[in-house]
Amino acid sequence: QAPAIILGIETSCDETAAAIVMRDQSGKGVIRSNVVRSQLDEHAAFGGVVPELAARAHVTYLDHIIAQACREAGIQLSDVDAIAATAGPGLIGGVLVGLTTAKALAAALDKPLIAVNHLEGHALTARLTDGVQFPYLMLLVSGGHSQFVLVRGVGDYERWGTTIDDALGEAFDKVAKLLTLGHPGGPAVEAIAKSGDPKRFKFPRPLLREARLDFSFSGLKTAVRLQAEALAPLSDQDVADIAASFQAAVADVIAVRSRQALERFAAEFPGQEMRLVVAGGVAANQAIGTALKAVCATAGATLVVPPIALCTDNGAMIAWAGAERYALGAHDDLNFVARPRWPL
Ligand code: KG4
Ligand code: ZN
Repeated sequence: QAPAIILGIETSCDETAAAIVMRDQSGKGVIRSNVVRSQLDEHAAFGGVVPELAARAHVTYLDHIIAQACREAGIQLSDVDAIAATAGPGLIGGVLVGLTTAKALAAALDKPLIAVNHLEGHALTARLTDGVQFPYLMLLVSGGHSQFVLVRGVGDYERWGTTIDDALGEAFDKVAKLLTLGHPGGPAVEAIAKSGDPKRFKFPRPLLREARLDFSFSGLKTAVRLQAEALAPLSDQDVADIAASFQAAVADVIAVRSRQALERFAAEFPGQEMRLVVAGGVAANQAIGTALKAVCATAGATLVVPPIALCTDNGAMIAWAGAERYALGAHDDLNFVARPRWPL
C-alpha cells in the first residue's frame, strides 16, 4: 500500500480541529500535527455549548487551524492525498462548516473527500495510538455518547449498548451544574470528589439488574439533585461527599457493564485475545479508569486508553479514520449530506 497523507477536520461540537496524519506502507499511522482550538471561553457564560455560537466560531477559526496544521506538519495543502471531515453525528451547524470546507478543498485541489462518522473516528483511534488489531470492544463515554461498540473491522461495527437518556459526560456536567462547580463539569466533579466520602450516599445504579448492555444516567442525576435539595444549604464537605458518591455509583455501573460486555465478547469470539478500548472525554476520569483496570485484570482483557488528548475530540482521529478508509479505496461524493444523527 502506498503511504498516504490525510488532512482531518473536526467541527461537530465545540472544538475546531484539524490534523495531518500519515499512514505508511505497513499501515502504521504517524500524527504529523494535531491542532485543537477549544471554544470553552465562548460558551462559559452559558453553562454549556450553544450550537449557533459554536458554528460561528468554527467559521471564524477553521481556515487558520487548517493552515496551522499544515505548517506544523511541514507540508503544503496540495501535498495531502485526501481530505477527511466529520460529516456527523453532531451539532449540524458545526458539522456543515467542517464538511463544506472539506468539500471546497477537495474540489479546489482535486483530491478525494472522505466523509467520516465521528464515532468511527473515536472507534479507530486505538489503532493509530496502540496498533490495536481487530476485533476489539470500545467503550465510548463522552459528553454526547455512552456506548459499547464491537469493532470488527473498518466500517464493520456493532453497537452492543447505549444510553437510554443522558450521556455519561452530560450527567457529570449536570451534577456539576447543580453543585455549582462550573462547566465542563467532569474534571470539577472528579477534583472535588477526592476530598469526599464515596460511601456517604447510596445513589442508585440504574439498569444494573437488567442483562442488556445499555446505560441510564438520568435517574442517578435526579437522585443527586434530590439529595442536594434535602441537605441545602450545602457545606463544602456535603458537596465533596455528593460528588464522590455520584462518581462511585458511575464507576460501579461502568465496571459491571464492562464485565458483562467482555463476557459477551468472550462468548462470541472464543479463544480471541480480549481488548477493551476506552474513548471520549470521560476516559480522563481516574476513578472510572481504576474500576476498568480491575475489571480487565479479572477478565484477562487488555485495557487500552489512548492519550487523553486523543480520547477527546480532535482532528487526528478523523484524519486516521479517513486514512483507514482511504487505504481501502473508499471516498465520498461531493454531494454527501451532513447527518446530525448517524449511528455507527
Ligand atoms: O469527548 P469530549 O471532549 O467531547 C464530546 O462530548 O465529544 O467529552 C467531554 C465530556 C464532558 O461532558 C466532560 O465533563 C467530560 O467529558 N469529562 C470528564 C472528565 N474530563 C472530561 N468526566 C469525568 N471525569 C473527568 N475527569
Ligand atoms: Zn467525540
